[in-house]
Parts: sequence; structure tokens; C-alpha cells
Amino acid sequence: MKRLLSCLHLKNLFNRSNLTNYFGNFFQKRAVSIGAAFFIFSNQNAFILTFVLTIKIKIKVEMMLKKVSSERISTMGESIFTTMSKLAFEKNAVNLGQGFPDFDGYAMIFESAYRAMKEGKNQYAPSPGIKSLRDVISVVNGNHYGVAYNPDTEITITAGATEALYCVMQAFLNSGDEAILFEPYYDAHFADVILAGGIPKFVTLHKPDFSFSIEELEQAITPKTKLIVLNTPHNPTGKVFSTAELKIIAEIAVNHNLLVVSDEVYEFLTFDSVKHFPISKLEGMKERTITISSTGKTFGSTGWKIGYVCAAKGLTDSIRKVHQWTTFAVNTPAQHAMADAFGTLDTYLPDFRALYQNKRDLLYNALKGSEYNPYLPEGSYFMMIDVPHKFDNDVDAAMKLVTEFGVAVIPPSVFYSKSDEGATLLRLCFAKKDETLIKGAENLLKALKV
Ligand SMILES: Cc1ncc(COP(=O)(O)O)c(C=O)c1O
Repeated sequence: MKRLLSCLHLKNLFNRSNLTNYFGNFFQKRAVSIGAAFFIFSNQNAFILTFVLTIKIKIKVEMMLKKVSSERISTMGESIFTTMSKLAFEKNAVNLGQGFPDFDGYAMIFESAYRAMKEGKNQYAPSPGIKSLRDVISVVNGNHYGVAYNPDTEITITAGATEALYCVMQAFLNSGDEAILFEPYYDAHFADVILAGGIPKFVTLHKPDFSFSIEELEQAITPKTKLIVLNTPHNPTGKVFSTAELKIIAEIAVNHNLLVVSDEVYEFLTFDSVKHFPISKLEGMKERTITISSTGKTFGSTGWKIGYVCAAKGLTDSIRKVHQWTTFAVNTPAQHAMADAFGTLDTYLPDFRALYQNKRDLLYNALKGSEYNPYLPEGSYFMMIDVPHKFDNDVDAAMKLVTEFGVAVIPPSVFYSKSDEGATLLRLCFAKKDETLIKGAENLLKALKV
């Protein structure tokens, strides 16, 4: 009976809100024409009255929406990537903001996915992911890092790293638990902690080398700390955490009995002689580390949204509980294609790395010696540059660059919660065609001359 009553209450609430929305939209859409008709055929007062009524309805609808939306999402607005991309489109600007390639990735996956479709691999995949993909990820982790994951119990395929991150935070954070984030952070890390009812605490990666202070990390830890979120290679700085730094983080995690959520989506994008080192490889860390990666980054097809999460069985059991109620299973033919792609990883990687290293060098060399003072990234496909003196801060620079100089960049202060260092930096993405990079650099340099 109680359940029935609460269902009815919910139903009423939705009916009411739909009605309010409907009439709100009805009046809003027609307000100008109704008002104009009154103005022409009646008098000016009628127009003013209609206008005031419309505003009132609009405020009412907004207040109603505020009431029904959960507190957890009250601070969430449009992401900076969406805002900057919209502006780039409107102003026909070169887009060095948007964080994904403007060209196709590994061509073999198209044929492979099509073959899987034609072979009838079109129904739900098993919830943890197809066996062949889990098997090959297990082999790749063994061969590249010497970390053994059981494909049946320790690897789960998700809808991009994004779903993996969401499931992990839901699986391990209770309301009020604290999570350490290194800032600048990837925005989903922050959002997922909040969505899980957690409290983010921050440790700053300081320029010029984006290193952190051990004291700052230790001070951020309290009895409520549950986990540390790591991202290496790092978006947005391009930093690759050194083994020495990872050892410090691991020691702190072990001493305080913390989990480490390690976002390694750019694991195969390191440059020069720099090597990616997964923290799970360190002694005592496999059982407390949840490692997340993405075939979207590795094979240059972010839109396919095939990610994965590797973690010890006990941790995986918890993650899979959330995954089954989030997406349950992930796109079947795309999983088959990614399994095939991983089968050729070792022949694919040298060209993939060389392609991105050339792009990094092109952009870096174009801006080197200018007031942008680019920071050479060791990994990922992002590069930080300084805000030149002619701009007030990163937001001012990003707005002027896109509106007046035809180039979109990301103002990274939105990825900082503690330090104001973000106001002195801009993020560029070099996963772009060479002509895009050349034109983007040209427009950036032009801005310095005006
Ligand atoms: C650090 C980091 N983690 C996770 C993701 C999301 O990955 P996916 O596209 O596989 O969901 C991104 C995408 O930009 C990223 O930069």
C-alpha cells in the first residue's frame, strides 16, 4: 500500500511537472506573437502584461526544475568542452580545444566490425564483455607490463573509460568518503566522485614539471579518505608519472589502506624514451588498484566507446554489480573489432606513436620561443602553454582567442579547485590533422602581434 501511494505521488509529480512544462513552453513559444497581436490590435499595456506573465512562467518552471533535480547535480552545468566547441563552430575557429582526433583511427577495425555484424554478432554481449576481448587484454597486460589479470574474473568491458569511472566511484564511495584528486583533474573524475556522494580533496601538480609535494599529498589524507585517483599519462598536462612518484603514491596508499583508481587511457601514447608504468605493477598494489583504459584512445576511435577496467576479483565483483545496472553490456560488433585490433597491437604501436609524436613536435616547435612557452608533454595528446601577458587570465585568453583570433583552446582553471595556477595556462589538443595544427599555431601567434 505504502509503495502504491509513493508510486502515485511520483506519478502525480511527473504529471504536474509535465503539465507545467507544457504550458510553460506553450506560453513561452507563443508569448511574442500573442503579445504582438495585443500590441497591434489592443494597446501597449496588454503587450507588457503578456511579457511579464511569460517571465513569471519561465521563473516558475525553472524553480520547479530546481526542486525536482537532485542536490548532487545542482552545481553541474555545461562542460567547458561543449562551450568552447560551440563557440569554435559559431566563429568558424580552428579547434585545438576539443580533446579527440579530427581524423580516423586504425582502419582495420571498420572491416572487423562489419564482419562481426555480418556474422550475426549483433545481440547483447555477456555483461563483463566478450571473452575474446577480455582474453586479449589479459595477454596485452601480461606482455607489456607483466601484470596478470584473470580474463574471467578481473577484466570488465565498459562503455568507454567514462562508464568505468562512474561504476568504480559508485562501487567504492559511500556518502562522505573522501577521494584525492591530483589537479588539474580530468573533469569526469571530479563529477563521478560528487555523483557517488563523495568529497574530492586536491593535491596540485605544480608547473613547470607538474610535480607534486609529498607533504601536500599526506596532508590531504584524513580518516575519511577512501581512494586516490591517478591519471597517467595525464590529461591535461601531458605528464607521465615517474616510477619514483608512483612508488610514493603506492606507499601512502598501502600505509593508509587506500584504493587507487588509475586512469591510464593514454597508456600507449608516450613519447621519446618515456615509458608508461602502471602503478598496479608495484608490490602490494594489484589488490588495491583499479586500472581503467580505453580502446577509443588506443585505436583512435573515441566514438566507439569501448573501455575496460582491470582489478582484482573482489574489486571487480563490486564494479560489475554497478555495471550490470548501468549499461549491462557494451556494443557487440565493436568489441569484436577491438579484440582483433589488440591482436595486432605490437605492429600497430610504432606508427601510432610516431604519428602523435610528430604532431606534438609540430605544435611545440611552432610555439617554442614565443610568449606561449609550451610545456613539452611526455604523453597523452595534450599540451599546456602559458597565458601571454596581454590577457588577464586563461578564461579571458580563451574567449578572445576564439572570438577575435579564430582558434579555440581550453581554459584549464576549470580543472583546478585549490590552486590558481590554472589561470596562467591554456590546454591545446594536438590530436589534429597537420593542417589544423599549422593553422591553429598561426592564429595563436597572430594574437601576439596585435
Ligand atoms: C583522462 C581521461 N579519462 C577518461 C576519458 C574518457 O574515455 P572514453 O572516451 O573511453 O570514455 C578521457 C577522454 O578524454 C580522458 O582524457
